[in-house]
Amino acid sequence: MWDLPQLPAVHQPERIAVVTSGGDAPGMNAALRAVVRTACARGIEVLGAERGYTGLVDNTLRPLSVASVGNILHRGGTMLKSDRSEAFRDPAVRRRVAAHLRTRNVAALVVIGGDGSLTGAHLLSRETGLPVVGLPGSIDNDIHGTEHTIGFDTAVNTALEAIDRIRDTAHSHERVFLVEVMGRSSGILATAIGLAGGAEIILMPDSPVVIDELVTGLTASRQRGKTSSLIVVAEGQDPGFTPDLAQQLSARGHQARGCILGHVQRGGSPTGRDRLLATCLGASAVDHICGGVHDVMLGIRDGRICATALADVISRSRESRTTMLELARMLSN
Ligand code: F6P
Repeated sequence: MWDLPQLPAVHQPERIAVVTSGGDAPGMNAALRAVVRTACARGIEVLGAERGYTGLVDNTLRPLSVASVGNILHRGGTMLKSDRSEAFRDPAVRRRVAAHLRTRNVAALVVIGGDGSLTGAHLLSRETGLPVVGLPGSIDNDIHGTEHTIGFDTAVNTALEAIDRIRDTAHSHERVFLVEVMGRSSGILATAIGLAGGAEIILMPDSPVVIDELVTGLTASRQRGKTSSLIVVAEGQDPGFTPDLAQQLSARGHQARGCILGHVQRGGSPTGRDRLLATCLGASAVDHICGGVHDVMLGIRDGRICATALADVISRSRESRTTMLELARMLSN
């Protein structure tokens, strides 16, 4: 658990708004609940924008009461729905959004989403002066300024549950299984899943695949007595990569099957860790607004809730640690 930073309140807005944007992530609902209930406890009204930035663009916001966020803490997805808005990329549209919000007496906006959404949040704040606080909501864990994003822990656990099942059938048929996971170009999600799932090999999005090396490695592990193997494949290779590779390995004497986990990883009830993270960050977002701190994203660094300038967050990306890949390789021997 993380202590909430104590910020002196310098500003008491009458009304704020909140939006979930981009790919949904388990824990977004928990964050919404914390934002709404913390704000209400401070006497601040909250409006929720529906369908991500599309709701801001279309000016479809609805009041969120304490009761309206009841019974959502444990639910995956987002009660406000989400979207990847093309229209919001246009500066003129963002200016219109800020004008709508000001007309509706909205003094600040909380954005819960991944790096694309946080980029939009920063541009909105910089161009229009609207106070914005971002929260990292993404299964990918690829956002600079936080060690954990909301939804990452759940996605890792969901993939592990699937892998544990796949291991049963891999063991029974003495097969190699290639399991393709999400996580965009960073491969951070794949590294975590591979390490925690005991994968022999983790294929990163940009890693060149040398079939001879794979076959040599699998043959060596068979000679050491392993009868089945797991390869975690990070998404980002060419379409059809995983089934093609499974066929190639089968043709080279290692009976292989591919399994693409896909959007299964984005759904489901958030883990305790994601609920806690979302709750602490959601409550802290309201405190930061009242403390006059904005154009920042809140995240966890060195075990503490920290604010990082959104400009900084979106100018860098988090990479997977090669030490973790080496560890996975060593432990799979
Ligand atoms: O960013 C979250 C994520 O699930 C990525 O891991 C994946 O590449 C992408 O979203 C899929 O997006 P969509 O649901 O729009 O296909």
